[in-house]
Amino acid sequence: MKILVLHGVNLNMFGRRDAAQYGTATLADIDRALASEARSLGVGLECFQTNHEGEMCERIHRALDEQWDAVVINAGAWTHYSYAIRDALAILSCPVVEVHMSNVHAREPFRHVSVFAGVACGQITGFGIDSYLQGLRAAIGAAGRR
Ligand code: DQA
Repeated sequence: MKILVLHGVNLNMFGRRDAAQYGTATLADIDRALASEARSLGVGLECFQTNHEGEMCERIHRALDEQWDAVVINAGAWTHYSYAIRDALAILSCPVVEVHMSNVHAREPFRHVSVFAGVACGQITGFGIDSYLQGLRAAIGAAGRR
């Protein structure tokens, strides 16, 4: 089984932005934690980050031919308004799990909306790095049920 993890806009700045919301872990720390969890669970993993919406869409398009078993995505602020990424995710036939480091529902109202909600099998939000690790487990579980 292999899982693709997608990180969106501004997430390369984890560790240097709003520590009260996101803690102090860097994106490299998160990717290392995911790689170690994936190894112990016996699944393959690739992580990808971009700050460019079109590049994220193109990465998702390529994913269609690469036969991933599931996708975990933290799209950052794109979550709240990018119909382009939503439509790209909808093309995939594998399960998609949405994750957020912060609890988006306890924050500003614009963060309460996820335009991905209808194409994701679920959302894990508010657990810091653990959101990603739980997201990975949820993705493996969702892929196994198909
Ligand atoms: C985030 C939450 C988003 O609202 C925000 O724009 C981010 C990070 C999170 O991981 O908590 O960039 O996705």
